[in-house]
Amino acid sequence: MWIEQGSNWAPLVDFDMNMIHLATIIPFVLLNAVLVYFIIKYRRRGENDQTSSIAHSTVLEVAWTVIPTIVLFALFIMGLVTFRKMRTVAQGAREIEVVGQKWQWDFYYPSLVRENKDKGRLKLPTGQLYLEEGVPVKFLIRGTDVIHSFFVPAFRIKEDAVPNMYTFSTVTPVISEEQKKSGKAVYRIFCTEYCGTQHSGMLGDVHVLPTAEFQKRIRELEEAENNVSPDEGKKIVQQSCKACHSIDGSKVVGPSLKGLFGKKEALTTGEEVTVDENYLIESMLQPGAKIVKGFPNAMPPQNLTDAELASVIAYIKTLK
Ligand code: CUA
Repeated sequence: MWIEQGSNWAPLVDFDMNMIHLATIIPFVLLNAVLVYFIIKYRRRGENDQTSSIAHSTVLEVAWTVIPTIVLFALFIMGLVTFRKMRTVAQGAREIEVVGQKWQWDFYYPSLVRENKDKGRLKLPTGQLYLEEGVPVKFLIRGTDVIHSFFVPAFRIKEDAVPNMYTFSTVTPVISEEQKKSGKAVYRIFCTEYCGTQHSGMLGDVHVLPTAEFQKRIRELEEAENNVSPDEGKKIVQQSCKACHSIDGSKVVGPSLKGLFGKKEALTTGEEVTVDENYLIESMLQPGAKIVKGFPNAMPPQNLTDAELASVIAYIKTLK
């Protein structure tokens, strides 16, 4: 009702929701009004005020059983019809992989949107989903560690991201009335299943773009895909690493990235390691392999492409 409508589902869900509100609020108000009226009308008026004998009323009892049953059944049918629509994937829907892990969302486009189809799927920047206005999509959703839940309020969709299992959700994104002026829309993505300390920070943005702009953006992402630079690395660190690794030397959950490259670290095994490219790569892909003394084995493996790994390393080298 008060959340902007960013998909084909939003008007349907809002209508059902409003009907449920009406079907509960109206009886609630009536019931309480009658209650207050009766309390005053039939209050005890003195020591000798006796309650008269009250028989039942068949008409009244049948009415208050049958009418709510019909209303509730109508609500159920409405919900069922909408639910069935929302579980039906439109023909030609674009499939997008959604991966939830502590504590970020990653999105992959299949090769079908690419000009060069041999290059495989396209990874979008962590937490940033780009969709084409009016084109139906199917989200193929999974988790890698614990249960997360992919929630886009503007779309009115919410689906668990479960390890070792695929779930799906489908939607046709639209640009909401509120954001029509700018010609595109940005909606918030949340994780709505408690998944650990940074659960509330597991956010993202969906960008709904008109066709021309969408194609331009995808082309830019494809071109940037194999770029290796400290700037790319900085973006990844800010999106995926910052919650646990500071860049100013302060201790958060894991070791700070400042001055890390070339440093000698004492490990929990008593051994010592010099931080080089290989140690950094291993620490991102298999974080539990070599744990620095004084820190917990808490980091999940990262979903990073080769170019992204190289960019992160290039960035860490600049943090002297
Ligand atoms: Cu992921 Cu909560």
